[in-house]
Amino acid sequence: MQKKISIAIDGPAGAGKSTIAKMISKEMGIVYLDTGAMYRTVALKAIRDQINTTDRDSLSKMVDSIDIAVNYIDGEQFICLNGEDVTSKIRTPEISIGASNVAVVPEVRIKMVELQRQIASKTSVIMDGRDIGTYVLPDAQYKFFLTASVEERALRRYNEQIAKGYKDISLDNVKNDIEYRDKNDSSREFAPLSKAADAIEIDTTSLSIDEVAQRIINIIRKEM
Ligand code: CDP
Ligand code: CDP
Repeated sequence: MQKKISIAIDGPAGAGKSTIAKMISKEMGIVYLDTGAMYRTVALKAIRDQINTTDRDSLSKMVDSIDIAVNYIDGEQFICLNGEDVTSKIRTPEISIGASNVAVVPEVRIKMVELQRQIASKTSVIMDGRDIGTYVLPDAQYKFFLTASVEERALRRYNEQIAKGYKDISLDNVKNDIEYRDKNDSSREFAPLSKAADAIEIDTTSLSIDEVAQRIINIIRKEM
């Protein structure tokens, strides 16, 4: 039997974490866990319940009573909120900002991290987020921190949203949203976005997806 491994990929929005983590999960045949989807699901529930995503007291009570579950079908992650599959409902700009807001609340993080660690305790996993290498899996064998200039990250996210058919967006708005999240995520007290001391940082600004994935796979294979 192969040894269980964990790979942590952290970094800000649009750095390429999920695209690259999915490729590596396929290449290595291990589970991919998108932890951002969990915070997005909490934000969806708050918005549905008309709870302000900056109202910490209400959020800490709400999160206590919700059930978030992650399932896999043919290697693809689906996320359920109280039994409802909400995977296709959590990618809007409003939910992105909401997720960054709810992620500040310690009670929200503690519940999400418990689920993340539970999954990682059972199987080899590549997990992406903001605090995976520093807080969720501090003992992960491989840690990467992906970055890119804010202009490049905004352009990537803008192109992605246009390709998905969103019409009412502008590059400026996408950039402002990303800057808001960068600041919010890096400055929160509990498990902020930061590079683990032992993580390998890769600036992806002028790298293609394949170049980044290949670089990471080479590092992992060399050390295995
Ligand atoms: O997960 P994260 O927010 O870090 O980024 P992503 O969702 O993986 O990537 C955002 C967009 O940038 C996607 O459309 C990727 O295809 C694209 N991308 C890119 O063009 N070049 C890279 N080196 C990485 C991602
Ligand atoms: O894909 P993108 O990088 O735009 O965002 P995401 O990974 O889906 O995360 C959405 C938000 O959830 C982030 O802006 C963070 O505030 C929060 N998050 C977090 O705090 N910790 C994580 N491990 C993952 C996401």
